[in-house]
Order: sequence, then C-alpha cells, then structure tokens
Amino acid sequence: MNFEYTDEQKMARDTAREFAKKRLAPLAQKLDEEEHTPRELYAEAAELGFFGILMPEEYGGLGLDHVAYCLVMEEIARACAAFQVCLTVHNSLVSTALLKFGTEEQRKKWLPQLASGAKIAAYSLSEPGAGSDAGSVKCAARLEGGHYVLNGTKSWISSGDVADYFLVFVQTDPALKSRGVSCLFVERNTPGLTVGKKEKKLGIRSSSTNEVHFKDAKVPAANLIGTANEGFKVALTQLDGGRMGIAAQAVGIAQAAFDEAVSYTRQRQQFGKNLADFQATQFKLADMSMKIDAARLLTLRAAALLDGGKKATREASAAKLFASETANQVAYQALQLHGGNGYVREFPVERYFRDARITEIYEGTSEIQRLVISREVLKEAAETAPVAAAR
Ligand code: CAA
Repeated sequence: MNFEYTDEQKMARDTAREFAKKRLAPLAQKLDEEEHTPRELYAEAAELGFFGILMPEEYGGLGLDHVAYCLVMEEIARACAAFQVCLTVHNSLVSTALLKFGTEEQRKKWLPQLASGAKIAAYSLSEPGAGSDAGSVKCAARLEGGHYVLNGTKSWISSGDVADYFLVFVQTDPALKSRGVSCLFVERNTPGLTVGKKEKKLGIRSSSTNEVHFKDAKVPAANLIGTANEGFKVALTQLDGGRMGIAAQAVGIAQAAFDEAVSYTRQRQQFGKNLADFQATQFKLADMSMKIDAARLLTLRAAALLDGGKKATREASAAKLFASETANQVAYQALQLHGGNGYVREFPVERYFRDARITEIYEGTSEIQRLVISREVLKEAAETAPVAAAR
C-alpha cells in the first residue's frame, strides 16, 4: 500500500488549495450571509478545470483520478463547503452518469459543455414524498411520440438556481415502483419546467437548494440516459461516487474547524497560560486530529477502489458516514474550545458548525449509510459463508 500522492494528484490539490485560499476563503463568510454565490466564482473554478475533474480529456476534462478528485474537493470545502456542493454534484453525480450510462452521441453532445463548466448540472432524485425511500419517486413521465411528458415536483435540488441541466429520475411504469424509474437529462429552458422555492437553510447557505416543478414538460426521448425503467440503478450507482464526494467535503470542513481550534487555542490565554497548554485541550485536539486522519483514509480508500474499477458501495457509505460524523464532532469541539467567540459570526467555526450538519443528511442520511453498509456486509457474509439450512 502506497500513501504517497502522485505528482499529478499533488498538483491538483495545490491548485485547489491556492484557489480556495485566495478566492473562496476571504469571501465565504460574506457569501454565507448573502445566501448567494456570484457566477464569476463558478467561472473561475471552470477556468481551472474543476467542473471536469473526472472527465476524460477527449471530452474536455482534466482526466484526473478519484484520489485527485477527493483532494480537490477537500481543499475547496475547507474554504467554502457551499461552493463545493455545486462542484461535487456536477462532477460525481451528474457528469459521470452521462459518461457511464450515456450513448456516444449523448456524451459528445453534453460532456464538453459540462466539463468546461460552460453549463452547470444538478441531480434531481428527491421529492416531497421520496427522501430516504428514493425508489418511491412519483414524478411521472409518459412516452408520447418522440417525447416524454413530465409532471410532478422534485425537491431539495442543490444548485437549482444556477443549473442549466437537470438529471431527473422519473416514474415511467408506476406498477413496477423503483424498477419502473427512468433517468432523463433535461434542459432548464424546457417549457413546463420551473425552478421554484429556494430553501432558507441552516448551513451551506451560499449554495442554492430549490424545488423544481414539471407541468406537461416535453423532453425528447433521445434524452433518456441508460435503459428505460433502469434509472434507479443509475441513481444508486451515482450515489456511490457522490457519497465519496460528500465524505471529502466533510473532511474539508473538519480540517478547517481543526485548524481554527489549533490556531485559537495557541494564542487565547486563560488562567495565565494558553488554552493549548492545558491537557484538557490537548486531548481534545488529539482526538480531533485522529478522527480527521481516519475519515480522510476511508475517503481515499473508496476513491482508490473506484480508480481500480471496483465497486465501492460499502466503502463510499462508510467514508461518508464516518467523515460526516467526524465533521460534526470536530466542529462541535472547535466551537467549544472557542467558548463564546465560537458562537458568533466573527469567527468561522460558527459557520463550520452549521455547514457540517448537512453532511449527515444529504446523499443519504447517516441512518441510510448504516443500512447500506449492513446490507453489503450481510450480502458478503452470505456469499462467503452460507448458513446451513435449519433442521
Ligand atoms: N449501485 C448499483 N446498483 C445498486 C446499488 C448501487 N450502489 N444499490 C442497489 N442497487 C440495485 C439493487 O441491486 C437493485 O437491483 P434489482 O432491481 O436488479 O434487484 C436496485 O438497485 C434497487 O435496490 P434496493 O432494492 O436496494 O433499493 P431500495 O428501494 O431498498 O433502496 C436505499 C435502497 C439504499 C434505501 C436507497 O433508496 C437510498 O440510497 N436512499 C437514500 C436516498 C439518497 O441518498 N438520496 C440522496 C438525494 S441526492 C442529494 O442529496 C444530492 C445533493 O443535494 C447534494
């Protein structure tokens, strides 16, 4: 096992670190308060190739591996988790779906626009009545001539405000439930598609989260991604990579909170010495640092498996679960170490504490990750050691 990054991975990480430090970190607090990200910032990230990290060069992407992708995602999230959400959804939930399940014609048509960042994409699975039970989507699409006609509502759509395209999971055969779900690539300017209510959130406030409504919206049948009625598998396959991206986000938030805790406790004096000189502080810092290391290693293991062309369902869920719980625990302790100063907006730990919370909710709650992990573990056990039939 090799724990050294390649030159390419280091270069990707350093480019992201520089952009995050110079452009995102100074603005993150202001953007959080304004609940908005200016389009120019996305354009700057696009210039650096961050909308096409995993995309092969033939489609205009950087052609980097999943390890490099996670390093970039961590650095961006360390400065501004809200900005990272847009990138991780665009890269690992949507673009790679076209790469894996699209036809060559679809790839040639859409991937260069996505990889260059000229167009931004959003993933549209959840609905008001289909959150954790994602297979119960009701948004309906009936085939009429050469078009699917869509009716229904999608909710909690990250980047809803800025997206040019939506990867939408629709019900094409209600009798089959999750086995009747199909996946369509839908242009924002489709008549009958409207981007609705923008949510007022606790954290990641500068990223938009919207409802998207369809009323007799006609989408060309040629925009079907993969096979009709097999869209739920596309959704879940994509969530393996997506969960790895959220794990990297959580590591970034945790690292940022930890950095602030170290810096603050080294200069804040109480009872005649720095907080960092108290063993109570040192033990907290030790636990925080160890958990961040473990979360990063789990995330990079999932990335390495995907780079090797292996399935990483259990590993991506484990990384997401552990890293998101770590982000919450570390942000909690970092705030605690700041005392009253941690509770006000002058200090960034207040934002990290709020931003960490969503990592245990989106792309599958911690409870769903436990369900996925336990199912995979039991499946592996049944395959390797079948239980003898009861007498
Ligand atoms: N990869 C590929 N296929 C998979 C898979 C995977 N990881 N997991 C399951 N499948 C297949 C199954 O083998 C099954 O195939 P068959 O039809 O051939 O049997 C099919 O998909 C259905 O699987 P399940 O029977 O396991 O499905 P389920 O209804 O029991 O649901 C679940 C499984 C894990 C609970 C799933 O619904 C889930 O992950 N829920 C959470 C939803 C979620 O994460 N939402 C995130 C929204 S997007 C978001 O948050 C983005 C954002 O804004 C940042």
